[in-house]
Amino acid sequence: MKHNINNMKRILSFLTVLFISVTMWADEGMWLPALISQRIVDMQAKGFRLTAEDIYNVNEASLKDAVVLFNRGCTGELISDKGLLLTNHHCGYGQIQRHSSVEHDYLKDGFWAMTMEEELPNDKLTVDFLVRMDDVTAKALRGYKEGMSEAQRDSVVKANSKQLIAEATKEGKGLRAQVEALYYGNQYFIFVFRTFTDVRLVGAPPSSIGKFGGDTDNWMWPRHTGDFSLFRIYADKDNNPAPYSKDNVPYRPKKYFKVSAKGVKEGDFTFVYGFPGSTREYITSDAVHYNAEISNPHKIKLRTHRLDAQRKYMSKDQAVRIQYSAKNASVSNAWKKWQGEMKGIRKMNTVEVKREYEKRFREWAKGTEYEGVLERLEALYAELEPYSFANDYYRESVLVIELPAFARRVQRALEKGDDPQSTIDNFYKDYYLPIDKECFVSLVKEFEANIPDEFKPEYFKNSMKQYSTAEAWADDMYANSAFVDAKSLEAGIALVSIAGGNVAEAMNEDPAVRFYAELADFYNNKVFPKYTSLNKEITLLYRDYMRGQMEFDKEKAFYPDANLTLRVAYGKIAGYSPSDAIYFTPSSSIEGIMQKDNPEIFDYNIPQELRDIYASKDYGEWANDKGTIPVCFIATNHTSGGNSGSPVIDADGNLIGLNFDRVWEGTMSDVVFDPDVCRNISLDVRFVLFTIDKLAKNHRLLEEMEIIR
Ligand code: ARG
Ligand code: GLU
Repeated sequence: MKHNINNMKRILSFLTVLFISVTMWADEGMWLPALISQRIVDMQAKGFRLTAEDIYNVNEASLKDAVVLFNRGCTGELISDKGLLLTNHHCGYGQIQRHSSVEHDYLKDGFWAMTMEEELPNDKLTVDFLVRMDDVTAKALRGYKEGMSEAQRDSVVKANSKQLIAEATKEGKGLRAQVEALYYGNQYFIFVFRTFTDVRLVGAPPSSIGKFGGDTDNWMWPRHTGDFSLFRIYADKDNNPAPYSKDNVPYRPKKYFKVSAKGVKEGDFTFVYGFPGSTREYITSDAVHYNAEISNPHKIKLRTHRLDAQRKYMSKDQAVRIQYSAKNASVSNAWKKWQGEMKGIRKMNTVEVKREYEKRFREWAKGTEYEGVLERLEALYAELEPYSFANDYYRESVLVIELPAFARRVQRALEKGDDPQSTIDNFYKDYYLPIDKECFVSLVKEFEANIPDEFKPEYFKNSMKQYSTAEAWADDMYANSAFVDAKSLEAGIALVSIAGGNVAEAMNEDPAVRFYAELADFYNNKVFPKYTSLNKEITLLYRDYMRGQMEFDKEKAFYPDANLTLRVAYGKIAGYSPSDAIYFTPSSSIEGIMQKDNPEIFDYNIPQELRDIYASKDYGEWANDKGTIPVCFIATNHTSGGNSGSPVIDADGNLIGLNFDRVWEGTMSDVVFDPDVCRNISLDVRFVLFTIDKLAKNHRLLEEMEIIR
């Protein structure tokens, strides 16, 4: 009997292990906070100790009130009762750069406001708090009747949305709202935000910490980047949003995160709360194939040209390095991600796996309302492909050449009677003509070689004939355009004005304006209409296909694709094996920074102070149990672009890290999630505390945080 019971126990515990290991790994998904009660049992089973109401509650303060959309593209979180905001270095990069000059190079040396008076205001920086989100599917479709055309349905939804938005924003300062389609329009949610615009820069480490490893380490594990910066939200005396004023006071948030300095270990529960931008988890095999095998390879090649030109001049001149640092980082970022994504999709065999799935779906769909949906999608994709290709190519080549785009923008502003002066100043501040001219040559060559004639305007074909080489065309344009520098632009404008001419009209003759205008007009009039109408039909079919997938696969928990709305992702701290015979452990430390440190290489040349601190082991209270300073960790949370700066939260709702990246082998998670290798990369919050304390010596900031020791 005893024997039997023991056996029984063994079997049971084996079953539990099996059950746990299966569910433990099911970490795919970005869930809507308002519906988190549907996931909370699973979250709690994995270690979370709070409730659904702690995550999202409209009546009382909840964690959502400490999470913000930063600059409409990143996430940030509140970490003090005085509006102190933590986000990534790369999210605050533009602001840090704008305050920098060769004399005060905050990118290079870092910036630390030692008092509130020293905190730096930023033009056009926004922080949005989510006030609430509601399912408004029925309201958005009010008045829609079976049999209406899609155009009619669209206008019903538009009109209803307008009204819903007006209602949602009529009371209270700084409110804005948007109605978003989820699951391709099977569901509608309204998101109401409160926007603050007086947001000041408080601190940033030197780029040699905040961007340590640069684009070499970007999207990679092991990682040692101290990717954080600090801002502060200011409000009027009544704690309401207000434009910048020196009379504004620090915002008092409803909720802020306590910071846990207790450390993390493999297996710990983690929860990322933020704004992922865009995923495409439910698309067909054809769409994945186009993405991974056609579009990505071409876009990668085009960006390689631009990066080559940038790097060549940036390495020679510090002023050019500052000018092009942000541009370079953003070109390089997607360039590298697409390469990982392609590789991951191939490794997962996603095209084949989806084809297999589609076969079964078709079988199942026979005789249902979903019969034929996939066939129609397939036909539409075949029709779309040349248009997608031309569109992608145009956007990654001729459209991104700086001079023509700028010239046309100025001309347009004058045409409309707007003052272009700030556009002009901003442009020349960060413009280096030799880089742009080289880009012109290589991008025009690629456009010429890869785009079929039907997608080239006559103007382009004639110019290629006239100049015979892209180089000759570039020589002419970059010698004769009035836009090549501020002086000649000013002189050109003055000349026309004195003669009593119309400046905007005269500018039409400028070769740079003409280049942009001719290409844009052709694409806007001859390519986009077809491209957008096909895409519209496709999206429409996806509404059915999405619903069909949900009915076909009833066991599966579906989550809506990311669309820059607030989401919950949860998982655990875990290492991974990127390839045979390699296993990566999940935490990195300052030891790794020292191993990579190299004064000869720009991206690995750490500040001397950090070397000194390392030598003296002056880590204060921030060392871990091994006596070293933790830097980054990886976990199984499903994140995407936009999740940068998201709080990483422990089982008790305290802040343990700051999300900033994904591992390269897992970048296909926007299309397909592989629990074995998809890992998000976070900065350990203890590294933030250590840097503020020992490097910045900015103790006032530590004092205003609530640190759990
Ligand atoms: N890969 C991260 C993200 O997608 C970080 C990008 C910024 N860093 C860089 N080295 N470019 O935003
Ligand atoms: N670095 C990305 C961002 O800026 C996050 C990384 C990712 O794409 O997951 O949002």
